[in-house]
Amino acid sequence: MVYAHITGWGCAVPEKILTNADLEKMVDTSDAWIVERSGIRERRIAGEGESSATLGVRAAWRALEVAGVRPAEIDLIICATSSPEHIFPATACIIQDKLGASRAGAFDLSAACSGFIYAVHMAAQAIRSGALKTVLVVGAETLSRLTDWSDRNTCILFGDGAGAFVLQASRQPGGVLSAVLRADGSGADLLTVPAGGSRHPATLETVKAGMHYIHMDGREVFRFATRVMGSATQEAVAQAGLDLADVRWIVPHQANIRIIEAAARFLKLPLDRFIVNLERYGNTSTASIPLAVCEAVADGRIQPGDRLVLVGFGAGLTWGALVAEWSGPLAVQRRVRPGMYRLWAGLRSFLRRLARFFEGLVWGRKA
Ligand SMILES: CC(C)(COP(=O)(O)OP(=O)(O)OC[C@H]1O[C@@H](n2cnc3c(N)ncnc32)[C@H](O)[C@@H]1OP(=O)(O)O)[C@@H](O)C(=O)NCCC(=O)NCCS
Repeated sequence: MVYAHITGWGCAVPEKILTNADLEKMVDTSDAWIVERSGIRERRIAGEGESSATLGVRAAWRALEVAGVRPAEIDLIICATSSPEHIFPATACIIQDKLGASRAGAFDLSAACSGFIYAVHMAAQAIRSGALKTVLVVGAETLSRLTDWSDRNTCILFGDGAGAFVLQASRQPGGVLSAVLRADGSGADLLTVPAGGSRHPATLETVKAGMHYIHMDGREVFRFATRVMGSATQEAVAQAGLDLADVRWIVPHQANIRIIEAAARFLKLPLDRFIVNLERYGNTSTASIPLAVCEAVADGRIQPGDRLVLVGFGAGLTWGALVAEWSGPLAVQRRVRPGMYRLWAGLRSFLRRLARFFEGLVWGRKA
C-alpha cells in the first residue's frame, strides 16, 4: 500500500501591503465596514516584475527545500490558479522551467479558490495509484491584476500570494486520507471574469465595459459558501473513517471571517480550532489554504501527527474538503540548496533556447 504524504511546504507573498486605510482613499468604504463584514485588515499586492509564476516559484523553492527534494526528482507540477500568467501556456510550465524540473509534466488546474484542494487530491491519487512518486502542487495568485480598483464590492476582498506543497510516496500510513470534490455550474455567473476567453474575446468594448475584471454577486456567494463549508468537512471526515473529534485543525479557505464563523457554528466547533490569517492577506484564492498551513506550521500550531481538514469554495461554483495527517518531511532527507539549482535552471533554460535557435537555422537550410 502506498500513501501520499505532504513532505514539503512553502509560501511567498509580495512585500507591498495595502491596508483598509489605503482603500478608504480609493473607493467609498471604511476600515470599520471592511473589518465588520469580512474580517480583512490588509492584503499583499504584487509589485512590478512580480506575477503568479514568480510568487509560485518562490513558494515552490521553499517547499522543495523543506522536503529535501531536487527539482529533477519532481514527476509532475500542478499549478492551481485563478490568475494564470496567460490563457496558455500553463503557469505550471513557467514554474517548471524556472525550477529546472527536467523530468516533470506540468499543467494548470482551474477550479478557482477550491483549486488547491482539487490539486492536492489529484496529486495524492496519482501517487497512491503508483503512477508517480513526487508531485509539486502550487497555488499562485495575482488577483490584484484582475481587480477593478474602483469597485468597492470586490476590491476590498482579494490579495496576492502563493503556497506550495510537495507530496511524496511512502509506505508509512498517513498523508492525504480522503477528499470530497463538488461543483455546481448553474452558479457560474455568480463569480466570474466575463471577458478575455473564447466566449467574449477581449475587444475595446469588453475592456471599456470592465469585463476583464472580477464580477461577483457577493451575497449569493456568501450564502453558497456558508451552506457548503460545514457539510463538505463532515463528508470528508466521514469518508476518512474519522470523527470531527479526531481532527486537530480545520484550515478553511480565507475569504471572510463570517463564513468561517458560520462553518464553526454548523460543525459545533470553537473558532480556535480553525486556522485563520485572512486579516493580513485577504482572499488569496488558491494560495489561501497553503499560506494558512505554512504559518501554522511555522508557529508550531500544526505538529506531526495532527489531522487537518482543508476546506474551500470558489467560482464555478466549486467546493471541496480534504483530510490529511500531517507528517512533516520523510525520514531520509537531503539538504537541497535552491541557490545552486536556481543557477542550473537558468543555464538549462538558456541552453534549450539556444539549441532551438540553432535547430531552427539547420531546419531552415534543409527546407
Ligand atoms: C462581499 C461581502 C463582504 C459583502 O458583505 P455583505 O454583508 O453581504 O454586504 P451586502 O452585499 O449585503 O451589502 C451591504 C451594503 O454595503 C454596501 N457595500 C458593499 N461593499 C462595500 C464597501 N466595500 N464599503 C462600504 N459599503 C459597501 C453595499 O453596496 C450594500 O449597500 P446597499 O444595501 O445600499 O445596497 C460578502 O457578501 C461576502 O464576503 N461575500 C462572499 C464573497 C467571497 O467570498 N467571494 C470569493 C469567493 S472565493
